[in-house]
Amino acid sequence: MSFLGAASALPLSNPIERHMKILNLVFHPDLSQSRVNQRWKQQLEDSGKVALSRDMYAEYPDYQIDVEREQQLLAQYDRIVLQFPLYWYASPPLLKKWLDDVLTYQFAYGSQGDRLKGKDLQLIVSVGGRQKFYSGFDMFTTIPDLLRPFQLTANLTQMNYLIPVWMFRADAASPEEIEEYGSRWVEMIDDPRRSDPRAFLNESMASDADSYYDA
Ligand SMILES: Cc1cc2nc3c(=O)[nH]c(=O)nc-3n(C[C@H](O)[C@H](O)[C@H](O)COP(=O)(O)O)c2cc1C
Repeated sequence: MSFLGAASALPLSNPIERHMKILNLVFHPDLSQSRVNQRWKQQLEDSGKVALSRDMYAEYPDYQIDVEREQQLLAQYDRIVLQFPLYWYASPPLLKKWLDDVLTYQFAYGSQGDRLKGKDLQLIVSVGGRQKFYSGFDMFTTIPDLLRPFQLTANLTQMNYLIPVWMFRADAASPEEIEEYGSRWVEMIDDPRRSDPRAFLNESMASDADSYYDA
């Protein structure tokens, strides 16, 4: 085993990470008609790992976001999960408005604006298209490219941008596949190693290298 592989076995010393409070915000225009995001939301709730899960379009059907309430909620959590379907190569519009309204100057950024500093930002995305289209060749783009604005937002607000996760062929996926992906999200959702994306990536690469060279 490599040094990086061994490091993952060390006990966690950070108390915040051990008792991580997770907030899941689901932005789907009509969750009652959703196959994928509704199921994933339920799986995450059933896991007991998410302290609070919210259907944001049900909260704000008129798009009038209660900024103070949202900011107070954000302050209480260590890891913020944004879950949404990809619509026109971007997020559904309420999520954009939520970012515009809630991440204000001197709250999320600016000389005094450090209320999100050190929190984790995890994206979970359902994608209608096939992997082949988003390889970087067919459409000259990839999902991480499309999600770049979130990464830059995390940078500006001093959040840790966790490696995003997604599922392709969302409309064609069978209930079993949807369930299987949901189980993966449940597995990783409270993984404290993800809070340091570079360490997490190094560790995964090291264990991949181990299995490659051991084989
Ligand atoms: C208005 C709209 C726009 C969409 N745009 C895209 C898109 O740009 N790229 C893509 O791969 N899929 C796109 N899709 C497919 C959705 O991503 C897919 O229906 C969704 O992820 C399925 O999740 P759900 O079952 O929770 O609704 C779009 C769907 C709708 C309704």
